[in-house]
Amino acid sequence: MFLTLKESTFYMKTAKIKSVLFQALEETGKLLKNSLHERNVTAKKSELSIVTATDMAAEKIILDLLKKEFPDHSILSEESPAMGTAPQRWIIDPIDGTTNFAHTYPIACISIAYEEYGVVQLGGVYDPFRDELFFAERGQGASLNGSPIRVSGLESIGDALVATGFPYDRRKDPDSYLAIVRAFMMKVQGIRRSGSAAIDLCYVACGRLDGYWETKLKPWDMAAASLMVEEAGGKLSDYSGGPFGLENIQILASNSKLHADMLEIIEPYKNIALNQSI
Ligand code: IPD
Ligand code: CA
Ligand code: CA
Repeated sequence: MFLTLKESTFYMKTAKIKSVLFQALEETGKLLKNSLHERNVTAKKSELSIVTATDMAAEKIILDLLKKEFPDHSILSEESPAMGTAPQRWIIDPIDGTTNFAHTYPIACISIAYEEYGVVQLGGVYDPFRDELFFAERGQGASLNGSPIRVSGLESIGDALVATGFPYDRRKDPDSYLAIVRAFMMKVQGIRRSGSAAIDLCYVACGRLDGYWETKLKPWDMAAASLMVEEAGGKLSDYSGGPFGLENIQILASNSKLHADMLEIIEPYKNIALNQSI
């Protein structure tokens, strides 16, 4: 089969974008692995949200590479002001799991997504402490270290292992967040809180978890890993069953089969913190 010039240009462009994405994950992965022993907190963004020197160094590696390879693309990265207006946009979390990282608790990752015209096309999440690279391409499925992954096939909420996280404003409204945890605790087999939303979502994608919810995540927490869930056959929504979007204040992710049960549990809390800024 011969490709048209337009098709072959498209494949070459996508191949370059993917290879730069992998290079950025690999280089920053080495940095995170080599810096885990240092407690290098440099700033506090809020009462509970910290930044380490490694967040900044990892972000610099990624931004320098992207600016060199794709000077026209726009970038949304957690520790920097948004750059550019082009519809080709990179969405980056240089360390997802910073609080873990700052305590040398080895659950953290780098998350990089590539979006075109508001739709995430590629997502890569690398956990250097387990050497696990999760990757998804829209329409092409999701993989872990190159092998295809699928969500779990579990159908009974009583057997489910689910996860959540607590937003940085948790001291403002602890009872609402805890009420949701309580509601799930009464229905599922177990609840985990890893401290990295991207890893939690990737674990839903590969079937280690059956579901996940969190309030007030940011686009960089979810961009790459939400594509992973979708491409692995999972389902995403807000707490009312409405469509998922990167600007959503709520995310409910599941293996799809448990989505209705999870919605029934969380629906009474659908209005929590909706008007509160973080
Ligand atoms: C945080 C982690 C955590 C989640 C927080 C996020 P950060 O991201 O994903 O699991 O509970 O809501 O902000 O600050 O480590 O990049
Ligand atoms: Ca994050
Ligand atoms: Ca981060």
